[in-house]
Amino acid sequence: MVTVRVEDVSFCYDRKKVLDRINFTAEQGEITAVIGPNGAGKSTLLKTIAKIVQPDSGEIFFDEKRLSRMRKEDVSRIVSYLPQDNVIPGILTVFEVVMLGRIPYLNWRIGEEDLKITVKVMKELGIDNYAKRYANKLSGGERQVVLVAQALVREPEVLLLDEPVSNLDIRNKLEILELIRKITKEKKMTTILVLHDLNLAAMYADKVIILSGGRVYARGKPYEVLSEDVLSSVYGIEAEIRRNGEKIQVIPLRPVKCDGKRQF
Ligand SMILES: Nc1ncnc2c1ncn2[C@@H]1O[C@H](COP(=O)(O)OP(=O)(O)OP(=O)(O)O)[C@@H](O)[C@H]1O
Ligand SMILES: [Mg+2]
Repeated sequence: MVTVRVEDVSFCYDRKKVLDRINFTAEQGEITAVIGPNGAGKSTLLKTIAKIVQPDSGEIFFDEKRLSRMRKEDVSRIVSYLPQDNVIPGILTVFEVVMLGRIPYLNWRIGEEDLKITVKVMKELGIDNYAKRYANKLSGGERQVVLVAQALVREPEVLLLDEPVSNLDIRNKLEILELIRKITKEKKMTTILVLHDLNLAAMYADKVIILSGGRVYARGKPYEVLSEDVLSSVYGIEAEIRRNGEKIQVIPLRPVKCDGKRQF
């Protein structure tokens, strides 16, 4: 299993700086949640770790290996990445879509191990009963669970999920995040999630990285970094934070920046 170290990573789209000297480490067996406002650079950060875009400067290390020197095929054996927009192209059944996650391991044919893992993950996520349905006919939430399954069947060392529960109802959000936490601990995966819901981040993340305007505004354990002042500066909201030991609950109250302009 690998530790992911992001060192001084910067990235521009055209001339717009989107990531500005990002530094953090995501540890094995832990969930690291990346949070922050729309446009803060969260998805771009995940794309640099998945080697979909290359940083302009800085380096990402998988243990001591430099990501910039690794081949894409080698990265895709280690990393599973679920993008934010959950489109499923073509006409495929749910089973086929999930099985596609095994592609880095398929040797021109589907082996017994591939089948076993696919069935196991589908059962764990409660989607085995609609294995034969066409994925393009699923609801937004059902599709999201199928794509989480596709990311998990790879049994990755590094799991990168960009807003994996954004379309799910509250029970499904909790179930999927519980499962991701269980697998992260059991398999000692390094899991990095982008989440918008601060309470879910507080409940499930071992560490939180707060991105704001392409920079790391704060990082640490949820109860250490989430405070009224931070939420006011980063999101422009007034919020109440209830604390009970290391547990915290965020109660958003109202926006404080009222100039009528969006932050993005
Ligand atoms: N392909 C692209 N070309 C040019 N600019 C882009 C591109 N993708 C994203 N951007 C810009 O980069 C910035 C960061 O985008 P990113 O998608 O990383 O934000 P995010 O934090 O994931 O936001 P959200 O919470 O809305 O998903 C934004 O200002 C966005 O407009
Ligand atoms: Mg995003």
